[in-house]
Amino acid sequence: MFTRRLFLTSASAALWLPAAARSAARYPFTLGVASGSPRDDGMVLWTRLAPDPLNGGGMPKGTTEVRWRLCSDAAMSQEVRQGVFTTSDAVGHSVHLVLKGLKPGREYWYQFHYADADSPVGRTRTTSRADASIKLAHASCQSYEGGYFTAYKDMAEWTPDCVIHVGDYIYEGGIGTLGTRMRDIGRGRRQAFETVRLHNSAEIVTLWDYRNRYALYKSDTNLQAAHAAAPWIVAMDDHEVDNNWAAGIPQDPHAQTELEFRVRKLAAFQAYWEHMPIEKPPVLNGIDSTLQLYGRYRFGPAEINLLDTRQYRDDQACGDNRKQPCGVLTDPDRTLTGRAQEQWLLDGIARSDAAFTVLASQTWFSSFRYNPAPEAPERNLDQWDGYPAQRQKLTDALQRGKGHPVVVSGDWHCSAATTLHSDPYDAKTKRIGHEFAGTSIASGCPWARDMTDALSENPHVRYYNGDKRGYVRHVVTAGDWTAQFRTVTDPGVENSPVTTDTEVHTKDI
Ligand SMILES: [Fe+2]
Repeated sequence: MFTRRLFLTSASAALWLPAAARSAARYPFTLGVASGSPRDDGMVLWTRLAPDPLNGGGMPKGTTEVRWRLCSDAAMSQEVRQGVFTTSDAVGHSVHLVLKGLKPGREYWYQFHYADADSPVGRTRTTSRADASIKLAHASCQSYEGGYFTAYKDMAEWTPDCVIHVGDYIYEGGIGTLGTRMRDIGRGRRQAFETVRLHNSAEIVTLWDYRNRYALYKSDTNLQAAHAAAPWIVAMDDHEVDNNWAAGIPQDPHAQTELEFRVRKLAAFQAYWEHMPIEKPPVLNGIDSTLQLYGRYRFGPAEINLLDTRQYRDDQACGDNRKQPCGVLTDPDRTLTGRAQEQWLLDGIARSDAAFTVLASQTWFSSFRYNPAPEAPERNLDQWDGYPAQRQKLTDALQRGKGHPVVVSGDWHCSAATTLHSDPYDAKTKRIGHEFAGTSIASGCPWARDMTDALSENPHVRYYNGDKRGYVRHVVTAGDWTAQFRTVTDPGVENSPVTTDTEVHTKDI
């Protein structure tokens, strides 16, 4: 017999957990629940049994059965489905329940049960082409040490139809030092950065390390609330594996061999899969692992192409960081996505009949020049600025497509609303769409002042704020796309107020 309890809506308490469960020493649902990869007839429901979350999970070896229920009401009284899912230590006792055959455009609530413990109740929703209006939240870059995840509390209270996470869900680095420290940010300037809480180990390398790091991040109750409030679509950026990695190449080949890096990548992919509501586990081919993350999702007036701009990319043209044109930058054969994903994307852009054709990209699609003309332009070559031939090809395709192009992106820890132009380097050319770059949930922005100084060189950047942490709320109808940039007053203080920094409409910029 399943227990049924009152689910408090996200407006009052996004995450509900029985008090007895919270205090039980062996409570298995310490990492919360999640849903993701929403379709018009189903989604993935996720949890992971982890009674000792920061120490490998704490479940005994072997297989375990987890009961689940899906209901059409928040009180969990109108049962739609129920069943038993078998998991094991081979997947960290994670549950990836793929549901199909549900009705489109409907809310559902779900709960897991193990032994005598009940999980929190999660809310999810199927997609629908018929939705006239949709609410999407988009987030990235959540350094646990850099700030509290207060933005997620605000996001959960908004109850979006879907959350898009474009990467840096965890950071792989070691343990910092609590407190505020001044750091050189270039050009002879210094800026204060805060460390408000600490990582749980040195830089993570093994599957054990990655599991414990995900568990640390997922112990954040505001993050759990955002997962329990809506389905997510997710793609990793670099820090889920290693800073600024590209395909099989680490940022620091002097410190790890390619073989070591490939083993590390498999561990990182496995742990990512174990902790995310995604459909497919990593596949190992020889010593090369791949994880299917890119995918297409249709929400009423918006068709979202979730991109993977990390796993299949050609290496950065001449190393990381900001550079003037160099190396193989303009080689037309280089891609940020790999050819297979590019073809999939070009087909999707050409076929879409949605009002908005959306690219959810880890890194900025818009160009950005950091130095004044007439010097040769200095740009961040880890982003789309480092892959100009492919960006132009996609820009041309977006221009030919029916839908109004919108890019949502992250990575760069600052908020921006930009106009996309037929020539990405020339704001005087035809305006073809918009990009909304989300700031970070908690990661700092050492380049904020450089970007502010360079804004006059970048007239296509219509709004910019590098000083605030937060996320973006998007409300989309066939006639307009509204982006509300939500920012946290002080990410160094738990549950600090979250307000709207600015609201942008595609029809206005
Ligand atoms: Fe980041």
